[in-house]
Amino acid sequence: MSDFQTIDDLRLSGKVALVRADMNVPMQGGRVSDATRLERLVPTLRDLQKAGAKIVLLSHFGRPKGQRDDAFSLRPIAAELSLIVGEPVAFADDCVGAPAQRAVEALQNGQILVLENTRFYPQEEANDMPFARQIAALGDVYINDAFSAAHRAHATTVALAELLPAAAGRLMEEELSALGKALEHPEKPLIALIGGSKISTKLDLLNNLIAKVDMLVLGGGMANTFLAAKGTAIGKSLYEPDMLDTARAIMAAAQGRVCYILLPVDVVVAAEMKAGAAHQTVSVSAVPAEQMIFDVGEKTVREIKDTLTQCRTVIWNGPLGVFEMPPFDAATNEVAIAVSDLTKRGQILSVAGGGDTVSALAHAGVTQGISYLSTAGGAFLEWLEGKTLPGVAALQKAVPTIKTGRVIL
Ligand code: 3PG
Repeated sequence: MSDFQTIDDLRLSGKVALVRADMNVPMQGGRVSDATRLERLVPTLRDLQKAGAKIVLLSHFGRPKGQRDDAFSLRPIAAELSLIVGEPVAFADDCVGAPAQRAVEALQNGQILVLENTRFYPQEEANDMPFARQIAALGDVYINDAFSAAHRAHATTVALAELLPAAAGRLMEEELSALGKALEHPEKPLIALIGGSKISTKLDLLNNLIAKVDMLVLGGGMANTFLAAKGTAIGKSLYEPDMLDTARAIMAAAQGRVCYILLPVDVVVAAEMKAGAAHQTVSVSAVPAEQMIFDVGEKTVREIKDTLTQCRTVIWNGPLGVFEMPPFDAATNEVAIAVSDLTKRGQILSVAGGGDTVSALAHAGVTQGISYLSTAGGAFLEWLEGKTLPGVAALQKAVPTIKTGRVIL
């Protein structure tokens, strides 16, 4: 992306780089259970080290509601990062004040320090300028590498960009470039696979997508609401009765915009949502009155796969069925493998992210076969909704300082 500055635009030797990272990782029993977000930080850390910077990582972890709470300390996450980078990572138990100041002063070029959870202060989420000034005083430049937190207008995602020379980190650059290729300037035809349980949480997303994509495949629980809106009897399946008109409006708008909506033609039904439950595949016109839909059927999968072969770009958010429990993971797995194969053959560019999508693709064993798997949850969804992400906008606003060609320090 060219509309903001990157690490390459900064002179960093001996400078303190305040890096907004997203170290908000899943934990189980006090240990990091999925380190993907930490691993994705490594390119930025390595490039900053090569440039001779002193690296100070800022992040939130969880939602401690503006109060110090040890359950939300970044200390164990800093320890995990140290294992990943294979070198010591220092930790300061405050993100401002004397502890932070002392820890920054102790850094040598190339060394890494993690400051304690910025959300221990309510000023973080309030995008409070005096608080941001306290943080800014610790460093020389600001690097935002947290696309996944860019939908939050917080002190460390927005205000800091106004106070210091600001640039995107490698992960931020990579996310924005992949997302741009998928939705802003995609190779057509462009198809979106959208699953998940509810239309109500994805209304803006669906309305934005029908204006941009050539085909929209709907799966998961939300497809039930669309089927019901078309008058299909869906047995005891979960759906959103108050969203029927909305579903009809979306289908009508899609028609007007020449976006083809592909709904399931057959479905996998069972009497209970249980791994290994007795199940059968039926046409959507023959869903038994006492049963529930838990996945899309084989015919639908074939139709999706055929459609995929005609496309050049795929965006995927949300599983097509109850992917956590076999046999209802079959369609998601099979379509995921198809997307991965087409991607590996260079036939499509595939971008996936948000919510359960990463887990579903991991479950299908294809995370390596997707062109770009976003680490973002909410930010990915807001981007699909076409919203401006404040953290990205703040980096873009910082551009004029760069264009002077004398940036930075
Ligand atoms: C995420 O996990 O999606 C980001 O870290 C943002 O977290 P938040 O929803 O608590 O702001």
